Amino acid sequence: MSMLASKQDMVFVQKQPGFEIKPHPEHSRLYHIELDDSLLQTFFAGLSEVNAQTLEYVPYMRLILAGRLSDLFGASLGEAVRGILHDRRSGGFTVGVQEQAMDPESYVKFGTAVSCLAGTPNFDAMSGTYYARFTVKDTDDSDSYLRQAYRLFTLHTDGTFVEEPTDWLLMMKFEERHSAGGESRILHLDDWEELKKFSDHPLASYPFTYKSPPSKNIGQVVKRKTFFKQNNGTCICFIDQFVYPETIAQAAYLKELSESLENSAAVMALPLPAGQLIMLNNTFWMHGRAAFEKHPELHRELMRLRGVFTEV
Ligand SMILES: [Fe+2]
Repeated sequence: MSMLASKQDMVFVQKQPGFEIKPHPEHSRLYHIELDDSLLQTFFAGLSEVNAQTLEYVPYMRLILAGRLSDLFGASLGEAVRGILHDRRSGGFTVGVQEQAMDPESYVKFGTAVSCLAGTPNFDAMSGTYYARFTVKDTDDSDSYLRQAYRLFTLHTDGTFVEEPTDWLLMMKFEERHSAGGESRILHLDDWEELKKFSDHPLASYPFTYKSPPSKNIGQVVKRKTFFKQNNGTCICFIDQFVYPETIAQAAYLKELSESLENSAAVMALPLPAGQLIMLNNTFWMHGRAAFEKHPELHRELMRLRGVFTEV
């Protein structure tokens, strides 16, 4: 039985001078943060001397941007962002530039600033910096599902094959053309009907081997338990493409787990307009992508950031 969040769980709903937090129109566990348009304009106008390269080369500039958001919209914005991401009942929100900026550089600045309200972005070995931009097109010769448009990208968590923790995930839509389908598919662990069956299984805490394909630029092999406890809640670490079971029984467990997740009635396809981002707690939310409909001029660009919470 699905236990979707009820209205009284939406404790972060609020109206402040600089922003308003509303229940998300499409998902009962998520929030949508609406920012004041003129303050957004002020935010972008004050950053003309900062570009994406500055942010890549000088880590403290990422936090300076978060500080700018905090100064303009109020310290309560950061408190709400951190509160939502930590709150097991929710753990996610969307927010966007509300057409106050239209260019990729501004999107990078905005996504960086929001992410740094929550914590510190991890190094992304695929891009060689703290964020990655990637496109999905009609044709692709990559070695993972990431850029393959016409197949379903199965539900997973990020950071499975790296040593460091990955507490949160941010995905921001930059652009899309001729892209029917391709929505983010998301699932909150507490809405999954068979969570108990798989998290109580003897293999739930078996340390599986994770290895990544060459495009990820990680030569590492790590051991990861599929289910673990954090703040008294059951959390998950799983991706079908990079886990290497050693026995038939282990393979059967992983295959059934993935199929059960895919078949959950609580999986939601969430449309994300260009200029908007979604931020999720990566320990109890899973994400994937619906297949796109075939189109020769399909083009979609997304930015992703993953990172850890800052201990304060
Ligand atoms: Fe992912």
